[in-house]
Formats: sequence, structure tokens, C-alpha cells
Amino acid sequence: MDTLAILVAAGRGERLGASLPKAFVPVRGQTLLRRSAAALAAARSVHALVAVVPEGCVERAREDLAGVPRLLAVVEGGARRQDSVLEGLKQAPDDFAGVVLVHDAARPFVDAAIVDEAAAAAATVGAAIPVVPIADTVKRVVGGRVAQTLDRSELFAAQTPQAVRFELLGRALEEAYRDGVTVTDEAAAVERLGEPVAVVDGHPRNRKITTPEDLAWAERMLQEGA
Ligand code: C5P
Repeated sequence: MDTLAILVAAGRGERLGASLPKAFVPVRGQTLLRRSAAALAAARSVHALVAVVPEGCVERAREDLAGVPRLLAVVEGGARRQDSVLEGLKQAPDDFAGVVLVHDAARPFVDAAIVDEAAAAAATVGAAIPVVPIADTVKRVVGGRVAQTLDRSELFAAQTPQAVRFELLGRALEEAYRDGVTVTDEAAAVERLGEPVAVVDGHPRNRKITTPEDLAWAERMLQEGA
């Protein structure tokens, strides 16, 4: 089944505290955008790649992504992540009926096995996401007091790429839009429809670069030859 990867890079990345959009922050000489695009393109399942970038940054992103294989388009994103994904979906070929992989540009160390496994699981189930177990005990806190201790064995952190069949993803995001619902990942939009979302094994290295500490971790990873 054909697979289209949408690299979402249109966030401002304010928590990183950098003066430029997060996607353009370099890690040992290469931007997060370029590293993530190259990582996706290295996966066998990825047939084409669309990068969704901040307003006014299309030219800059094209230059940054020069030479990345199977790059189909670079487009501007929207106000929310889900709006950016919808912009990316518009670039799919007219007769496209495959799987869409939505990947955070802020996760430059995704490995090809995770990408391929998520794509394969979505082709069978409809949607699939990589997850990692949560190490800490998780509390629900209300009004400054612990209201509940959640059963850790049932809790996982969601990573990307989030893989969803094209038709299902379009329907899920359009319904979320119509209902005025903001979702923090694509799986949540699919779950709202009552459709199943499979899980595959993610990896701690596939961490999202959000804070200056995450960036320092990324620099160390590359220094150690990762
Ligand atoms: O904000 P958060 O860390 O959840 O963003 C995850 C990914 O979604 C990032 O790669 C970011 O660039 C992307 N994003 C986007 N368009 C937005 C907001 C976030 O492409 N409007």
C-alpha cells in the first residue's frame, strides 16, 4: 500500500526559547526539520513526503530540505497541529488510497523500523501509533491535591509517526473541525469516531525535542555517534 508522510513543522516551539521556529533550530549543524525528513525518507514504507512549515517559511524550508529524497511538496501550516495536517493532506495525489504517516519534525531520531511497523499496522487496522511505557507513577491533580493515582500498567506515552488510512484520517479531522474539537494527536481524532487504533513499540530515542534540556540531550546523542 502506498504511504504518504506528512512532516508537521509549523509550530512556533515557544518552549524551546529559540529566536527562530523550532524546525529550523540546528542540532550539530543540521536543522530538526532536515534530520526528521531524512529519517522518514530512510524508511522503506515512505513513498512521498510533504513538509508543513510555518507561514512565510516555505522557501527557507525548501532550501533546507534540498536533496532529501521523495520530497513531494513544502506547504504552509495552520493555527493548530490538526490544521497543519489538513494542509498536508491536500497535497495527496487525487487517486491516493494509502496510509498517511504524520510525524513531528521535533522527533529527529525516529528509526525506520518504527515508521514501517506503524504503516503496516495502519494498513491492517486503520490506524496505529508508536507508544512507550510510562516510568513514573501518574497522578490526577485537582485544585492542588492528588485526586487519583492512575494504574501505570495501562498508561503509555504516544509518539509519532501516527499512521492512519487516508480516508479515515480525512474523515476524522474534518469531523473534529466541524465539532470544534481540538485534538493533540491524530489518534485522538480517530478514537472520537469509535474506530480502532493499534499500538506498536516506540522507542525512548524517538523523543520530542521540546525544551532546552531536550535539545542538549539531542546534541549529546549525536556526539556519542548516534
Ligand atoms: O506543540 P507540539 O509539540 O504538540 O507540536 C508537535 C508538532 O506539531 C511539531 O512538530 C510542530 O511543529 C507541529 N505543529 C504544526 N502546526 C501547528 C502546531 C504544531 O505543524 N500549528
